[in-house]
Amino acid sequence: MSSLAVLVLAAGQGTRMRSSQPKVLHELAGWPLLQHVLGSIDPLKPARIIIVTGHQAHLVEAALPNAAITWVRQEQQKGTGHAVQCALPALEGFTGNLLILNGDTPLVEAKTLQTFVGHHSREKRELSVLSMTIPSPTGYGRVVRDAAGGLLEVVEEKDADARIREITEVNSGIYCVGTKYLVQWLQNIDNNNAQGEYYLPDIIPMAVAKGVGAAYHHPDSLSLAGVNNRQQLAKLEKVFRDRKVESLMEEGVTFVDPESCWLAPDVVVGKDVVIFPNVILGVGVTIGGGCRIGPFCEISNSSIGPDTVVKPFSHIEGATTKGPNEIGPYARLRVGSVLDAKAKVGNFCELKKAHIGEGSKVNHLSYVGDTEMGKGVNIGAGTITCNYDGANKHKTTIGDNVFVGSGTQLVAPVTLNDEVVVGAGSTISKDVPQKTLALTRAPQRTINNWTRPTKNKK
Ligand code: UD1
Ligand code: CA
Repeated sequence: MSSLAVLVLAAGQGTRMRSSQPKVLHELAGWPLLQHVLGSIDPLKPARIIIVTGHQAHLVEAALPNAAITWVRQEQQKGTGHAVQCALPALEGFTGNLLILNGDTPLVEAKTLQTFVGHHSREKRELSVLSMTIPSPTGYGRVVRDAAGGLLEVVEEKDADARIREITEVNSGIYCVGTKYLVQWLQNIDNNNAQGEYYLPDIIPMAVAKGVGAAYHHPDSLSLAGVNNRQQLAKLEKVFRDRKVESLMEEGVTFVDPESCWLAPDVVVGKDVVIFPNVILGVGVTIGGGCRIGPFCEISNSSIGPDTVVKPFSHIEGATTKGPNEIGPYARLRVGSVLDAKAKVGNFCELKKAHIGEGSKVNHLSYVGDTEMGKGVNIGAGTITCNYDGANKHKTTIGDNVFVGSGTQLVAPVTLNDEVVVGAGSTISKDVPQKTLALTRAPQRTINNWTRPTKNKK
């Protein structure tokens, strides 16, 4: 196979989205549409990746920082053929095949592209177009064939007569073209059509006339579908979810109610994990084998160690748990939380930049922030690390086997050394030496013959 470059067209405004955001940055499963397309290109290991931007180009370029991409500007969007013309300078010196695709087809799969490019090369074509069948193909360019089934041309819907509009085989917007011919053909297209645009599909009859053009039909139209409006976006979101869930089930993951879950493209889940209804696994999530993720949990940018139980309504973001751990119900692990093996975080506890050592427990109604904690620690109910003085954040350090009584405030910066016991209800603001008891409790008074207040009479 000769070398391959890839060109993605992403300059269009996406008017039908009715959005102030560029269309290719609208997210599907937490990734911009364009990132999905790039993900499917990656396995082809192209020699060059060129992306044409125009409408809000700076936003698109900033959203996908990637040194491997050559960005090309199409200042005025004069059509898909014009967009490709704008990219030609970036192809200078390249003589292989160019795979062209749209930035708005998020479900396109690498294996489809590989097969398509393979056909193109083996059959020595100079222009191949990937087609699909859509029963109600409104908006798509129709693939027109001769009586023998040979490719003739693609006619845009707005230029089509009633007979051509009946055709259900359509242009997917994916092409493979020999670069040398592409340059020649593009010189010969014009904008004499219903939209006054330079259409890329207008090079098809030129290739057909030379006997080097063909259309390959792909049976799975959903994976080639473009997003032009919010309805299509929502539809593909659901298709994506179903496919992701399906592939995880193949790998040994149980979903109690797959339809209710939401998963980002890069989520990795180990074997024998059980995922209960209404779970959201966002970008950057790895779940180790044997975990149970309870209902209504949301996890993002986190790694959950094996055999961990995450109980319902827990919220985990930017955390690492080494497993096995018990988390929740109603726990919130914020960025920089680390749980060593067998650590437990229970209900209504919030952690931020807190390292909880092996076997340590923060079980009830506590806030632990900017904290380094050793092994075998027990943090009593309602303990608060007072890490913020109104201007700066300070650190709390807790050694091994420390016992902190309930209702304690630890005013940082402060250190509780190994084996310290803190009496319940204390406010600790000075370092505590190891194996000592610290308490700041006010002495209790008992008042005899105390009369309870009574309600005022009207
Ligand atoms: C295009 C095809 C149509 C095909 C369909 C598949 C043309 C004329 N028509 O129609 O045959 O069935 O895709 O989805 O090619 N773009 C630019 N610069 C421009 C115009 C468009 O970069 O000047 C980009 C858009 O950002 C988009 C892609 O090209 O990613 C397709 O443009 P769009 O307007 O969506 O074309 P369709 O009408 O869908
Ligand atoms: Ca489109």
